[in-house]
Amino acid sequence: MDIKDNIFPVFDQLLQKEEKESLLKQKAKVVWMTGLSGSGKTTIAKVVEKKLHEKGFLTQLLDGDNIRTGISNNLTFAADDRKENIRRIAEVSKLFLNCGVICINSFVSPTNDIRQQVIDIVGAEHVEMVFVNTPLEECEKRDVKGLYAKARKGEIPNFTGISAPFDTPNDPYLDVKTVGLSIEESAQKIIDHLLPKITVGK
Ligand code: ADX
Repeated sequence: MDIKDNIFPVFDQLLQKEEKESLLKQKAKVVWMTGLSGSGKTTIAKVVEKKLHEKGFLTQLLDGDNIRTGISNNLTFAADDRKENIRRIAEVSKLFLNCGVICINSFVSPTNDIRQQVIDIVGAEHVEMVFVNTPLEECEKRDVKGLYAKARKGEIPNFTGISAPFDTPNDPYLDVKTVGLSIEESAQKIIDHLLPKITVGK
């Protein structure tokens, strides 16, 4: 017997997503930002969150800092563990979604397979996929955390872009080419794309 067979009565008692959205006067969404380490995902996500907050939206930001140190602190960067990491985050995002919240996620999520898992779990109609498109050379030049230098020396195994794959997203992702844009400008592109989808009455 599937465990779900025994928990349907609990679901029956839950308020619906629409009731929470109506309370919050917003439409819930999962915003999923993919890109290389050091591409600026979290920096941009923080600005997106701040600006949406100022406009009266309730948001939640998930990234490596709060996920890999907590719910995923037993996982490595091997392919299977990354998939499990992203599965957990997608499931957590769905809980926020059903609570009416705009959940902004910033994760490398390096492969098409891993990203498809997000879409399958959250539902294509509820998720906006964003590619924070910063070329590897630029991320490596910035090397904010010094991880690329270590990866090149072989000190970090399975490093995305160096010794582990990053599939260029080619589906209908919002493609934010960050080179030549300020953080504010990159964030604004995402906000402009999102606003019609999260505003009630549009
Ligand atoms: S994911 O591949 O599972 O989506 P996640 O976004 O949680 O990765 O974590 C990526 C962050 O962890 C990077 O920004 C970097 O700071 C750090 N990191 C540590 N080891 C690696 C690695 N082998 N590959 C990529 N990022 C790594």
